[in-house]
Amino acid sequence: MGVLDGKVAIVTGAGRGIGRGESLLLASEGASVIVNDVGAELTGQSADQRPAQQVVDEIKATGGQAAANYDDCSTWKGAEQLVSQAVDTFGKLDILVNNAGILRDKMSFNMEESDWDDVIRVHLKGHFAPSHFAAAHWRSRSKAGEDVSGRIINTSSEAGLYGNVGQANYSAAKAGIASLTWVLARELGKVGVTVNAIAPRARTRMTENLFAMSTKEGGFDEWAPENVAPVVAWLASDDAKDISGQIFVVYGGAVWLMSPFTTVGELRRDSRWTPKELIDAAPSLFGDRSSGVPPFGAQF
Ligand SMILES: NC(=O)c1ccc[n+]([C@@H]2O[C@H](COP(=O)([O-])OP(=O)(O)OC[C@H]3O[C@@H](n4cnc5c(N)ncnc54)[C@H](O)[C@@H]3O)[C@@H](O)[C@H]2O)c1
Repeated sequence: MGVLDGKVAIVTGAGRGIGRGESLLLASEGASVIVNDVGAELTGQSADQRPAQQVVDEIKATGGQAAANYDDCSTWKGAEQLVSQAVDTFGKLDILVNNAGILRDKMSFNMEESDWDDVIRVHLKGHFAPSHFAAAHWRSRSKAGEDVSGRIINTSSEAGLYGNVGQANYSAAKAGIASLTWVLARELGKVGVTVNAIAPRARTRMTENLFAMSTKEGGFDEWAPENVAPVVAWLASDDAKDISGQIFVVYGGAVWLMSPFTTVGELRRDSRWTPKELIDAAPSLFGDRSSGVPPFGAQF
């Protein structure tokens, strides 16, 4: 018995890294999985069917159910075909894990237009397009009188929650994904769909050159990408039906619940301020807080 017995899931960008771990765990918990991956290089160029097919083969070798999909999830047509394949192959869709991503890190003053456009497209449209077609699927089932239990799990990043140097394109897309999570959670709750996001930290080709992520000999490998998947399986389960619009930083054995933007200071009166008055009042707006760039990264 798995926590996802009888469920049908899509995982985008599932041929490698975090998405691969998610697909394997969802399948081992009983879900039938559409393993989507274009097989792109880290920067998004070229295509290769082998990563998705290998994950499908791994799932089938352990007795699970899976099918490969090689569509670009950031195109309208590709996203439509992806959701259709889940319904045509396994009869319905229950879980959408939006995970596919690429990187083109550059400082803002060096960034090319294509670096901006491609990263925003793969991450932000690559989240929205499959969500659009999944949402339409769940809404039509709900309108037909079915008691739907749908799940979307998005993949944001601390880069999006805090803003990272050299990642204007990526951070803006990941911040957009956080906001998209709140929008979809508000819109789809009435048709039985929860929408949450994770911001993972793991050792993949995306991060191996960024931080030192040593593998501890014999001990728990806190940077293993497979550590992220259990949180996704939990959020995908029926037991998580009351969790929606939430963002979790996930790494190793840590799960941090993040708060959305919150009000932390106030200036208020019943008339319009002048710039000079705001200059004079600013210290009371910040109080004891620093008015400099906020620190980076989740801490507890
Ligand atoms: N690794 C980390 O520490 C970390 C941190 C924060 C966020 N993330 C996010 O986690 C997700 C997974 O990243 P990863 O580290 O496993 O990277 P990865 O490069 O190992 O995997 C990403 C996969 O997405 C696929 N892909 C790219 N464009 C696609 C498209 N248009 N359609 C379908 N598939 C596509 C790639 O072929 C690749 O297999 C990404 O969204 C990434 O931004 C990762």
